[in-house]
Amino acid sequence: HAVQYPVGALTHTPHGLGVATMLPYVMGYNLPAATPEIAEIGTALGLPRQDRNADQLADATIREVARLFNAIGITRTLADLGLPEDRIDWTAEQALGIDRLIKNNPRPFDLPAMQRLVRAAYGGDMSAAMMRDGARFQ
Ligand SMILES: [Fe+2]
Repeated sequence: HAVQYPVGALTHTPHGLGVATMLPYVMGYNLPAATPEIAEIGTALGLPRQDRNADQLADATIREVARLFNAIGITRTLADLGLPEDRIDWTAEQALGIDRLIKNNPRPFDLPAMQRLVRAAYGGDMSAAMMRDGARFQ
């Protein structure tokens, strides 16, 4: 939601569309801090547990959210939403300033992390959004 405010101001796109565009990337960012919770969302979405552990189920959950959003025509990247490339860092700074939405995120943010997240969402790079070595989701 915090990223969408500056993005919406620049692109004049609907709030929900911007939020939905960001969601898979933000879930990827939060994965290291919220794996069981994300896996639980997968179960609620009807994903089979099979013999998958929580890490695998959480990865599958994010892929499923991205698949679902793609199927209903949600914009895949901030570039597709119309964000100018030269406003990525400005967007990150503005988003980070919306305290009430940043403070309650499961994984803390600093400016470099937010810049990397916005860049990842701009370019459609899910592994960059996750910001950890050996990212499994692509
Ligand atoms: Fe919102």
